[in-house]
Amino acid sequence: MTYRIAVIPGDGIGHEVVPEALKVVQAAGVDLDTEDFDLGGARYLRDGLVLDDDTLDRWRSFDALLLGAVGTPDVPPGVIERGLLLRMRFELDLYINQRPFTYRPAEGDGHDFVVIRENTEGTYAGEGGFLRKGTPHEIATQGSVNTRFGVERCLRYAFALAASRPRKHLTLVHKTNVLTFAGDLWQRTFSEVAAEFPDVTTDYHHVDAACIYFVTSPERYDVIVTDNLFGDILTDLGGAVSGGIGFASSGNLNPDRTGPSMFEPVHGSAPDIAGQNKANPIAAILSAALMLDFLGEPEAAQRVRAACDAVGERSGSTTDIGDAVVAALTD
Ligand code: IPM
Ligand code: MN
Repeated sequence: MTYRIAVIPGDGIGHEVVPEALKVVQAAGVDLDTEDFDLGGARYLRDGLVLDDDTLDRWRSFDALLLGAVGTPDVPPGVIERGLLLRMRFELDLYINQRPFTYRPAEGDGHDFVVIRENTEGTYAGEGGFLRKGTPHEIATQGSVNTRFGVERCLRYAFALAASRPRKHLTLVHKTNVLTFAGDLWQRTFSEVAAEFPDVTTDYHHVDAACIYFVTSPERYDVIVTDNLFGDILTDLGGAVSGGIGFASSGNLNPDRTGPSMFEPVHGSAPDIAGQNKANPIAAILSAALMLDFLGEPEAAQRVRAACDAVGERSGSTTDIGDAVVAALTD
């Protein structure tokens, strides 16, 4: 079986970590037929293209997309983020952003939890605008869009994932004490869907408290489900307490499989270290492992994860770490 993968290295260290991820997948014995797409901040600065309809349509016929990182300091904020990354998430209906965090320190038990971040709604939906822009009476609004349909399908996915794990524990994270409209919809839908999953134990944490627990007692978590913006912020913290953002992987999933899913490290393009063979490729490699899981190659995915574990937090150049993972795979 050969999988057709659309590869978007993007900007900065994306160009360095993606080849390592592809190298490891091939070494794990999974054949990929890749096609590169030159998109991102650098491309935009060159000819103004962010993402054309034709490319988006062509992606629909691929088995998966693998993305490095996008963003260039010289491009105004939002152009690439909204025009490329969020457009991919929205138009391909990648409504789940799955971000696993595993940490096994030399001493202590460590932790192993997954954040399920709603990926198509909330404050990311782009609702809002300006009134009287640039005047002393300027008004800016930026609303949060929460549909029953969007919230429910996200919760259902999170419950099913929790049900499939040994601990079967799901925590809803929100801010229901202040966001009394969106929070109410999330909380009510959570309780309703919970009735369909009697094996799953549930909990609720306010997002500010969850930030404390991520640092003081992350082992309490199994699966967490939350909205788009809380999920964005919490998963950077998740990375920070799990060895660093250089280990944080993600899958932007279309669980209904009406199109390809997209896999990317949580980190950005890191222009400060780009081009120096310094970036940690583990996050990209683990993102490729999530891709293998989703493609139906769980055994290869597991071997890639075990190889990353064996390499651990070893320091070295991007290519050295990639080589070490390949060596651990073939040991
Ligand atoms: C992420 C990133 C993106 C997000 C940015 C680049 C738009 O921070 O994937 O977490 O906010 O979702
Ligand atoms: Mn983020």
